[in-house]
Amino acid sequence: MSTLTPHDTTDDSPAHYTDVDDLTTAEVESLLDSAAQRRADGSRSPLAEQTVALLFEKPSTRTRVSFETGLTRLGGHAQFLGPDDLQLGAGEPLRDTARALSGYVDGIVARLFDHEDLETLAAYSAVPVINGLTDAAHPCQTLADLLTLRETAGLDGSVAWVGDANNVCRSLVVGCAMLDVDLTVASPEGYGLDADHLDHAASLGTEPATTTDPEAAVADADAVYTDVWVSMGEDPDGDKRAAFEAGGFTVDEDLLDLAAEDAALMHCLPAHRGEEVTDDALEGAHAVVWRQAENRLYTQEALLEHLLAA
Ligand code: CP
Ligand code: NVA
Repeated sequence: MSTLTPHDTTDDSPAHYTDVDDLTTAEVESLLDSAAQRRADGSRSPLAEQTVALLFEKPSTRTRVSFETGLTRLGGHAQFLGPDDLQLGAGEPLRDTARALSGYVDGIVARLFDHEDLETLAAYSAVPVINGLTDAAHPCQTLADLLTLRETAGLDGSVAWVGDANNVCRSLVVGCAMLDVDLTVASPEGYGLDADHLDHAASLGTEPATTTDPEAAVADADAVYTDVWVSMGEDPDGDKRAAFEAGGFTVDEDLLDLAAEDAALMHCLPAHRGEEVTDDALEGAHAVVWRQAENRLYTQEALLEHLLAA
């Protein structure tokens, strides 16, 4: 199973999930169907005797627990490896860690700071690597987001992202482009999507609209999605929070009043109440955040089965 060199793209290379477009659109749609089925009837597909390492450099509630639980439900086993558990923490290179782990486990879910490290891990791993969040992407979140959208606003509804064009936003952009979802991204000047993100989305299908005006983005939207202004491990300049505050980027009930009457309020969580979203909004009738969080379990079970089942 193990190998001493990085993998090129031969037929023997494992399939990874470093961002949403590692899957085809048909595969994303099939995973959403499979996840919805699991949600409806609790179906299981065994990954008997398979072990997946969860290599996490950052804290996690939803990603860690949904992967651990999902693996149990699939008949497999999760092995959690935190930042201080491995020789990695004492300086062993990631490429050596990848090759050693490949000899023991059947897959690796990694939550890393630097997306390039995730790519290194995937390049040196002989088993599938799943991105459990990097500074650049959070594609497992996107699968749950797409399922939640399908169940609430509908994939033909309009989505307004209100906030930082961060990892969660960027993978959502990729997923929405692939499934032709109408997305508008509102961010303060200097914190929005860059040209590369927009070009990538265009190459996959639909490019999102962009604006610095949260009210314009939210007007009549079928779903409103926000996330923290400052992500884990980020060392923002002093002006960042001020820019979001001054620009009216807190999602509150007044902002939601501009959206469609039954608009879905989404948040990947954890939320910083009082910053990107108010407590009233998060606890109000629009919020679908607990369904969204639960959908992490079903979509990741579908992904694990897709990547690992023989
Ligand atoms: N949304 C999400 O990934 O949450 P955790 O950081 O709790 O895993
Ligand atoms: N953008 C947030 C998402 C947390 C799930 C972060 O990276 O901290």
